[in-house]
Amino acid sequence: MKGVNVGVAPVTYGTGDRAPRGEYGRARSDYTCAQDFAQYTEADHATYRRLYERQLQQLPGLACDEFISAVHKLGAPEQIPRFDDISERLMKATGWQIVGVPGLIPEEAFFSLLAEQRFPVTDWIRKPEEFDYVVEPDIFHDLFGHVPLLFNPVFADYMQAYGAGGMKASRLDACELLARLYWYTVEFGLIHTPQGLRAYGAGILSSAGELRYSVTSPEPKRVGFDLQRLMRSRYRIDTFQASYFVIDSFQQLFDATAPDFTAVYREVRESILAEGEIDAGQVLPGERLYSTV
Ligand code: PHE
Ligand code: FE
Repeated sequence: MKGVNVGVAPVTYGTGDRAPRGEYGRARSDYTCAQDFAQYTEADHATYRRLYERQLQQLPGLACDEFISAVHKLGAPEQIPRFDDISERLMKATGWQIVGVPGLIPEEAFFSLLAEQRFPVTDWIRKPEEFDYVVEPDIFHDLFGHVPLLFNPVFADYMQAYGAGGMKASRLDACELLARLYWYTVEFGLIHTPQGLRAYGAGILSSAGELRYSVTSPEPKRVGFDLQRLMRSRYRIDTFQASYFVIDSFQQLFDATAPDFTAVYREVRESILAEGEIDAGQVLPGERLYSTV
């Protein structure tokens, strides 16, 4: 199974069909573990710093303001940050904490951590030869990509609601539909601002190549956020996305996903049966796309 160029796993969470590379023996029953700070070598700290600096200088004009204004809350990149330091700041801002995990975890465990306002962060970092390409999320993707927006109250509430919604989706056998929502928002979401399109998805923000591509390339399709349309849409895991969904605000995203999904899942299943799934890159008749200019 091939991963993406962004440090995002083929399966966003969940162990997938391949043995994950982390050491799970040290994890507690909820899959969290202490951040193994002693494991980091000087080379690991240098990898983090180089990744951070490369991404930071790309943010202006491409990342959303909420991300840019919060990214420094990760702390100076001279060293890999300590999870406890970030948690202290995050707790004050939005009530969230970050917790270490050895790598990908099963989706039920992932959902309940989010519902408890605990964001799981992989504690190991990619090797230098994986600088541009790593098949599983590592600490750089998880911290740099995901944590800054957890300082935003509305986005943080969305993540918590997603976790609670995931537990419900497990009972309704709807995890595959719900995972599409995570993929197209939390990982690969774009937001429309008065200054133009900007990225807020972690998979884009932690990617050296996809950040600019997602916001400026004329190639991919950029569709306005529509929950049912999104849940009918397949996604690509082995290359840059062919389609992105665009929100107007985090409040819009929160409000659109607040209703009970029980009926939504039923309706989406019915429309998939009637009209099929929508391929990545496919545009429906009459659908308006966002342009990059
Ligand atoms: N409203 C959703 C439900 O009832 C929960 C949810 C919220 C899911 C936000 C995802 C994001 O299932
Ligand atoms: Fe991620």
